[in-house]
Amino acid sequence: MTSTNARFYDEFAEWWPLFSPPEEYVEEAADLLELFKRSSSSDAKTLLELGCGGGSLASHLKSHFTLTLTDRSPGMLAVSQRLNPESEHVEGDMRTLRLGRTFDVVLIHDAIMYATSPADARAALTTAAMHCRSNGIVCVLPDVVRETFEPGTDEGGHDAPDGRGLRYLEWTWDPNPDDETYAVDYAFLLRDAAGDVQVVHDRHVEGLFPRDSWLRWFREAGLSPECSIDRWGRTVFIARPGRQ
Ligand SMILES: C[S@@+](CC[C@H](N)C(=O)[O-])C[C@H]1O[C@@H](n2cnc3c(N)ncnc32)[C@H](O)[C@@H]1O
Repeated sequence: MTSTNARFYDEFAEWWPLFSPPEEYVEEAADLLELFKRSSSSDAKTLLELGCGGGSLASHLKSHFTLTLTDRSPGMLAVSQRLNPESEHVEGDMRTLRLGRTFDVVLIHDAIMYATSPADARAALTTAAMHCRSNGIVCVLPDVVRETFEPGTDEGGHDAPDGRGLRYLEWTWDPNPDDETYAVDYAFLLRDAAGDVQVVHDRHVEGLFPRDSWLRWFREAGLSPECSIDRWGRTVFIARPGRQ
């Protein structure tokens, strides 16, 4: 992870709900809740999310768990706080956060992609392990692993009732196939309530590691991992405290 966030999570965080609103997470949240039910104990009640962003996914989990939502971006946390006012929010970096308590479920969703080196990934998994109850689970969902990476483009965006709107082109590519990162270049068109439009380019550098490296880092963090593939072709890691 670089020490600074992508611009979209910083100066443009307010625009998050027009980029990736809660309604885009309905199916994914339903799948995750099913997975948590299958994998954790029946009395699982508390969930810690590391890198919760604007809380769009979390908004579908809060009626099932007591949530503690953490992110290193104050702007993204503010967006999540508006959407999920009943949940606890804590500012912190997933590599170093230490809350001094444990949870039934520790979740790192798409934020794990910002681990751009093995040291970052190991540090995030150590944080997850340290916050997981002895009979709890850690769930980590990278968008891609080395084996599933494909270049591509996507587009989308939404309008707000106040006249603001956002449209984007997302271009995923790998500038150097020999290193452990790839790039996602975003072109954002941001229309304010008065109808003025600005263009923003934002490059997100994301980590790209083989499945076996992830499995090894889980074990090094004191967790026993299993992986499965979800219906979007993503690798889903579920890990439990203890050695295999
Ligand atoms: C794609 S967004 C998460 C969106 C979220 N899934 C949602 O439903 O709104 C990625 C988030 O990861 C956060 N992030 C990146 N690196 C981080 C780190 N080292 N520690 C904590 N948060 C981090 C960013 O600030 C950003 O808010």
